[in-house]
Amino acid sequence: MAHASDMIAGDIEGYLKSHENKGLLRCITCGSVDDGKSTLIGRLLFESKLLFEDQLAAIEDDSRKYGTQGGDMDFALLVDGLAAEREQGITIDVAYRYFSTDKRKFIVADTPGHEQYTRNMVTGASTADAAILMVDARHGILTQTRRHSFLMSLIGMRHVVVAINKMDLVNYSQARFDEIVEEYRDLARQLGLEKITFIPMSALKGDNVIEHGHHMPWYHGPTLMAYLETVEIDEAHLQRTPFRMPVQWVNRPNLDFRGFSGMISSGRVKPGDAIRVQPSGKNSTVKRLYTFDGDLDEAVAGQSVTLLLDDEIDISRGDVISGVDQPAQTADQFETTIVWMHEQALLPGRPYLMKLGTQTVSATITDIKYQINVNTLEHTAGKQMDLNAIGVCTLSLNRPVAFDPYKDNQDTGGFILIDRMTNNTVGAGMLHFALRRSQNIHMQHVDVDKQARATAKNQRPAVLWFTGLSGAGKSTIANLVEKKLHAAGQHTYLLDGDNVRHGLNRDLGFTDADRVENIRRVGETAKLMVDAGLIVLTAFISPFRSERQLAKDLVEDGEFIEIFVDTPLDVAEDRDPKGLYKKARRGELKNFTGIDSAYEAPEAPDIHIKAAEINTEEAADAIIEHLRNQLLIS
Ligand code: ADX
Repeated sequence: MAHASDMIAGDIEGYLKSHENKGLLRCITCGSVDDGKSTLIGRLLFESKLLFEDQLAAIEDDSRKYGTQGGDMDFALLVDGLAAEREQGITIDVAYRYFSTDKRKFIVADTPGHEQYTRNMVTGASTADAAILMVDARHGILTQTRRHSFLMSLIGMRHVVVAINKMDLVNYSQARFDEIVEEYRDLARQLGLEKITFIPMSALKGDNVIEHGHHMPWYHGPTLMAYLETVEIDEAHLQRTPFRMPVQWVNRPNLDFRGFSGMISSGRVKPGDAIRVQPSGKNSTVKRLYTFDGDLDEAVAGQSVTLLLDDEIDISRGDVISGVDQPAQTADQFETTIVWMHEQALLPGRPYLMKLGTQTVSATITDIKYQINVNTLEHTAGKQMDLNAIGVCTLSLNRPVAFDPYKDNQDTGGFILIDRMTNNTVGAGMLHFALRRSQNIHMQHVDVDKQARATAKNQRPAVLWFTGLSGAGKSTIANLVEKKLHAAGQHTYLLDGDNVRHGLNRDLGFTDADRVENIRRVGETAKLMVDAGLIVLTAFISPFRSERQLAKDLVEDGEFIEIFVDTPLDVAEDRDPKGLYKKARRGELKNFTGIDSAYEAPEAPDIHIKAAEINTEEAADAIIEHLRNQLLIS
């Protein structure tokens, strides 16, 4: 038998096929750092005899050389070794372990980092039947244990086994075991977690993993393996739920063939079924279920197929195909629970990319209703969400998507959030329900439109967006440009940081969260003014790329001109027109841009004013010249 833990995708298929007659249990391991997870997985793989002989010899050898476990075999070396290989890109990127006994085959999601773990757990990337929650007997229930348990209750994990590990380090004490069990039961009650099994264990020595061993005669429950071999799996569950298939790609090799490919996330489908495509809402009927191995009479959750339809309707990647009787919902505003996974805090108003199934859209958090303290389960208020925070938030998208509430379908209700600048996954979450306001507010059609208003003013509307440090000269240059435009008969308006902060934005300070909101409002205001047909000038530090991009995305292509007033920090600080730099240096003013708050310079501004090289007059002329060249003014 091939060593199953580092096979590539093709092998896995074959491997699973050869064990087809046995049930498959998907489980996930979680816990806190250093709780012995790697050792446990290593031992499960080892005991199920699925390791290569030479790999075994290598571990024995390594255990002697590098092992931290004295004479005992250090199974962690096996799993960690594979992880290291993965990092070097030698083997596969999925961290799933496959093994098998006479009774069942198993997939264990072995996700070393908390981040991947959370993400997989929440988005259903590992639709686990059971979770093994590792607890170190010496430390008991830690914050991380609570966080993971909270997540398990959120995602509705059906079976949880609490593996109280490292019993060898607490003298196999039954009293200690009972103490932890009692504490965890209390937590589980509060979280509404059911079906919990507790197993005292030493993954290192092997007690209660596969065999009971002789150290804990007081324990009469199942070993972990016995538990995993017998825990009930409801394989048909997903097949009973309504039909959903997120479209992965449109398969159109020639004019005669047009199929929609994807993996069925729930339910079943057969030729003749009436379907609905969402969010567009168009209906059709399934003509064929195509696969490479020939057509199918029926396909069920988990299978990848290509649907051919009776009608030529418009379908693209990201759409969701549902049964017509119980279709998915569509909406663009939601109540959600979000788990934040990045050092850089979640800031309401900042645009992120949201991936929901195969759909990718732009999303902003409109409100953090509350956050949850995982230790006390209390609700707390906060303007931003930091690393590991869990919060109930409202979310707004730039267009409607097809979805199901997460409790009904993890694939069409679980999402991840991606930073638009770095492409990092920064959060994961679940959709609970659509906000009704998104369905009841419609755009009002108006007869006098932007075009009409602009024509009346005989100009092309635009936003001249000035950005740069405090004291860089944004307001001075913008002021001069406005004077020149006004003299030339243009209709303009200047939005200036200091002024707007006395009115519209007087409730905002200078935290990152407040600056994001400041710029979001200014962006929306500028958009309204462009719609009014004006040439708008804005002079705000606007330190973050994400929000400048947001402001740009609010108006049409070519209407947004980013002007970087590039004054080096020491020059701006030297000028210090309002004495604020001095205050900041003395520590009397917190979060001052350039001192203890970041400024992210534009990477490709439309106009780059190197303020050290030209004076205000020349800068203004250069901007007017640019507008002429772009035919924005004549
Ligand atoms: S932004 O970062 O949110 O775009 P904005 O341009 O509105 O800032 O306001 C910046 C002006 O507020 C500065 O020119 C300065 O006069 C004043 N100010 C007061 N405190 C701060 C601070 N902590 N950081 C930057 N500017 C500050």
